Amino acid sequence: MKNEQWTSKIGFILASAGSAIGLGAIWKFPNVVATSGGGAFFLVFLIFTLGIGLPLLLAEFVIGRSTGKEAVSAYKDLAPKSRWHWIGYLGMATCSILLSFYSVVGGWIVLYFIKAMTGQLLHQGEDYGVLFQMTTSNPYTAVLSQAGFMLLTIVIVAKGVKGGIEKASRIMMPGLFIIFVILMIRSLTLPGMGAGLTYFLKPDFSQLTSEAVLYALGQSFFCLSVGGSCMVTYSSYLGKHDPLGKPALSIVGLNVMTSLMAGIAIFPALFALGMKPADGPGLLFITLPAMFEKLPYGTLFIAIFLALFLFATLTSAFSLLEIVVAAFAHGDPTRRRHMCWLFGIIIFLLGVPSALSFGMEQLTLMGKTVFEWADFAVTNVMLPLGVLFISVFVGYRYPKERLQTEWSSIAPAWRTGLHVYLFMLRIVLPIIVIIVFLNGMKWLPL
Ligand code: PFF
Repeated sequence: MKNEQWTSKIGFILASAGSAIGLGAIWKFPNVVATSGGGAFFLVFLIFTLGIGLPLLLAEFVIGRSTGKEAVSAYKDLAPKSRWHWIGYLGMATCSILLSFYSVVGGWIVLYFIKAMTGQLLHQGEDYGVLFQMTTSNPYTAVLSQAGFMLLTIVIVAKGVKGGIEKASRIMMPGLFIIFVILMIRSLTLPGMGAGLTYFLKPDFSQLTSEAVLYALGQSFFCLSVGGSCMVTYSSYLGKHDPLGKPALSIVGLNVMTSLMAGIAIFPALFALGMKPADGPGLLFITLPAMFEKLPYGTLFIAIFLALFLFATLTSAFSLLEIVVAAFAHGDPTRRRHMCWLFGIIIFLLGVPSALSFGMEQLTLMGKTVFEWADFAVTNVMLPLGVLFISVFVGYRYPKERLQTEWSSIAPAWRTGLHVYLFMLRIVLPIIVIIVFLNGMKWLPL
């Protein structure tokens, strides 16, 4: 059966940018920028995103569009009778595990959003640290909210590529940008906001440690959703002659812009109110409620902020579920619906131990909870492995003439670019990924 296609280029761009822009760009990232050298770190991240993330994104796009097939069949098509299609299986496993704990954080966002909408979130003098701890460590709320997030994901993905993912992305992504603009204006119009802007962006090369640089490298592909082959599946819904170069650049641009906007929406307001940023989960669930509590119309603003996070997380979750569903649906809409529910429920169950991790911190293995292990496995092992295999695959195994044709549609004006591109994929990226991997495993003498 024939697969669905995006209704337009913009639909594809919004869905893919939706996959890229997620917790990585708007939650983890602003904080890392601020504490790792501000503008200096940002510059390094920008260079890596363009030099490493973009070529990889193009590699996944080329595989998907040229075959028109989902992640496993695409590799089978390009390298028949070989084991290269295992990259597709690796991608499916990576995305499933990623979604299993992504949905836990997504669940907290759903819960906080409901609390904010019903006026239950902000209370004068509330200790938001305690509230967060109670929310995450209560097994019922943790699992129920995770289930709620997965339900939203399943229902939308089950509606199809056009009617579900694209339609939702067309609403959520512009919504996300509008909300960001409102929040940036709010943040930048508070007296005393300058200190926060300085904290976020002032270049400080002395803080740019090798650890920070390697982190920026890892983030450059995490933030663009490459390595898990879900961009292969998304680009397979393009027409054979649809352009790739400009959409890829737009996705990278939107992603970088969003990371910047997130920092600008948060830090100036925080400093204007004389508060200190917390990192990790604390920033979103502890610092932000405390910050909005002090602002006029705080309840309204925190609700919009949480809606923004929810949109960003959901549109990433769609791509994580889609790669698995597409591999089994064979383009049949009824089968697709069944697969959505089946795998959605399996991934939810897989994520339950992660959801319960926060109430059972004593239950750890080598000092890490299940949640932390899942995050570690995906971020430090599976995604870098996927990136390595994909760059080696396109660099060495992808049929040469076909790649030439593909390249002429990516950058028609830059013919010799293909040599540079191949050099990147064959030599530079594998070396870099191996370094990131060794660093992630703490095997580098830093
Ligand atoms: N790009 C997403 C984020 O920054 O939150 C995470 C992600 C989604 C990574 C899909 C990898 C992936 F395949």
